[in-house]
Amino acid sequence: MKERRYAAWVLLALFLPIRSFAGDLTRPEIERKIDQLLPRMTLEEKVGQLVQYSYGRVPNPEELIRQGMVGSFLNVRDVETANRLQAIAVRETRLGIPLIFGNDVIHGCRTIFPIPLAEAATWNPDLVRRCARIAAREAASLGTHWTFAPMVDIARDPRWGRIAEGAGEDPFLGAAMARAKVEGFQGDDLADPETIAACPKHYVAYGAALGGRDYNTVDISEWELRETYLPPFRAAVEAGAATIMSAFNDLNGVPASANRFTLTRILREEWGFEGFVVSDWDAIGELVNHGVASSLEDAAFLALRAGVDMDMMGSAYHRHLVDMVRRGRVPEEWVDRSVRRVLRVKYLLGLFDRPFTDPKRQQRTILAREHLDTALQEAREAIVLLKNEGGLLPLRKDLARVAVIGPLADNRTDLLGSWSMEGRAEDVISVLDGIREKIGPQRVLHARGCGIKDSSTTGIEEAVALARQANVAILVVGESADMSGEAASRAYLDLPGAQLDLVKRVWAAGVPTVVVLINGRPLAIPWIAEHVGAIVESWQLGVQHGRAVADVLFGDYNPSGKLPVTFPRTVGQVPIYYNHKNTGRPPLATEKYTSKYIDEDWQPLYPFGYGLSYTNFRYENLQLSQTKLLPFGRLLVSADVVNIGPRAGEEVVQLYIRDVVASRTRPVRELRGFRKIYLRPGERTTVTFELGPHELGFYNGQMEWVVEPGEFRVWVGPNSVEALEGRFEVVSP
Ligand code: BGC
Repeated sequence: MKERRYAAWVLLALFLPIRSFAGDLTRPEIERKIDQLLPRMTLEEKVGQLVQYSYGRVPNPEELIRQGMVGSFLNVRDVETANRLQAIAVRETRLGIPLIFGNDVIHGCRTIFPIPLAEAATWNPDLVRRCARIAAREAASLGTHWTFAPMVDIARDPRWGRIAEGAGEDPFLGAAMARAKVEGFQGDDLADPETIAACPKHYVAYGAALGGRDYNTVDISEWELRETYLPPFRAAVEAGAATIMSAFNDLNGVPASANRFTLTRILREEWGFEGFVVSDWDAIGELVNHGVASSLEDAAFLALRAGVDMDMMGSAYHRHLVDMVRRGRVPEEWVDRSVRRVLRVKYLLGLFDRPFTDPKRQQRTILAREHLDTALQEAREAIVLLKNEGGLLPLRKDLARVAVIGPLADNRTDLLGSWSMEGRAEDVISVLDGIREKIGPQRVLHARGCGIKDSSTTGIEEAVALARQANVAILVVGESADMSGEAASRAYLDLPGAQLDLVKRVWAAGVPTVVVLINGRPLAIPWIAEHVGAIVESWQLGVQHGRAVADVLFGDYNPSGKLPVTFPRTVGQVPIYYNHKNTGRPPLATEKYTSKYIDEDWQPLYPFGYGLSYTNFRYENLQLSQTKLLPFGRLLVSADVVNIGPRAGEEVVQLYIRDVVASRTRPVRELRGFRKIYLRPGERTTVTFELGPHELGFYNGQMEWVVEPGEFRVWVGPNSVEALEGRFEVVSP
């Protein structure tokens, strides 16, 4: 038992509002300009800055601009339209305040990168930052100033289709990805014409939707909120994110877009965020459906009071704010406060000095060679090798016949994933294209076998016959792009349609079989995992999908991706995630009255952090710089990793901790460090991690961040299950 009287090592420093250089969005010269501009604005013009409409979804947008009644549009996607509308704003309005154009540049603009879940599987924030940089450059060349990304919602329920859009289940990995993307989109200087403002979303806890059903209710403890769902947002704010999007969901009885606690108390007062908050699409209007507002006017009141600065498509601010201020229901200072935040971001972006986009710039940026090369690199690194029995992979390039089978083999559209902005199927390399390109078209046989979703089995016979003629069958199966993303929750996690039948029948033909999965979420594939020799998880990898898959299949790239999310055996295990609590009765196979299922294993099919390589890495020599440390002390943990296999390769070295006894229950493991390394055969390296109060603390009963004295365990290894283990103790001073 710990000595409770020593327990409360409150680390006040962690509570001070963040004022790191990147996170501080105020600049004295800009604030002075706003001080001069604001008093010159009429109430109508002020409210206009808080209104955003989707271009094409509102009648007569030009007139709205002329009247100063709109400050932003989304879905203006070409530079000509952007410049034309901007000209009205800066030349035909009284004060010439520029518009800000926002778009969903989620994983690329025209050069489509892997979906964010796949990007997280690279565990390579530097690469993810570079891809966001490219997405920004392309989007900016089309007149976009602002992206509604990164989506940083932690998601532990693969039924939720939007799991595809984020970094998976873990707050530490999620925070690393959030930071990388904000830095990538925004660069060092928002005023640089090739950068765009980021908008981490959906604030907050949208990923905890009950039953994995999109837009559903969220009811979680404040600890869960702070320790699981907030960290990626905080990381994004620290990295300097200029805006944030408030979510659709109800959060503990107060919808996220009317939630003063999260939008003001935490975001503004604790974190010192100075950018602006935009609502999700009509999330203000939906406060009526949530049942906290009796009218659109009420909804506008609640949202503005809570801290939502801009109304996306709700028309609540547009219709009611002026009137509410005139009647004295809304103090004008609330409006001024929000307008200041919006103007601040417009100034930071340099829109007052440079409102237009050079229409010629897109020729240099769109699908530039370097962009495609980086997309290929990210696509390769995102692939996770789930199984490789007897070294079936990599395949030899001189095989006499290769059968490429399945509804996703000759498919381009679905490889773009959801939210593919300007992405076009014609830019995509399919898996069939990639394999033909790799070994030449003559030896590649192809059959579709069945559809993605329909249950017809008529094509299966032909596919089996084709497989029989080949040395290997590569089955390309999974989900279509519209099966994940927004409003695409699934109640089943199996392969849809007749695809599992196809896999079973081809496998039964006795040809060595490889399954290549294409999907936007973890799928439940227990039969495949048990029977098929090799499984390649390729998610939706964007324009270079097929090339990256072919590189992995034929050994030109040694896979290094690791799962950013747990793969369940069945939907019935969901939610299943590695950093769960221990319970009072942790599962024990031999003991009935423990926490498990009577009809299924309690363990996942593939754990978080898991992924194989064509080489083998041995972990040894775990070292701790000390075995006792003070609550505010620091500890170095290192381990040697040796490539003992035949090929060069990358490995993601992961560090996990467990606070064994604490005043509140703690997860059985928590990721607290990772590093991607490259080792040639026989090469060895030492990887060192530093642990301190940020990594070892948690929120105590009083919601204070504390490191409590007592025993800790630490693991360094290749995934969340296998690892070297060490122990240390935090001691009272
Ligand atoms: C989505 C957001 C998106 C917005 C604008 C909403 O339906 O939830 O993620 O940014 O639309 O397209």
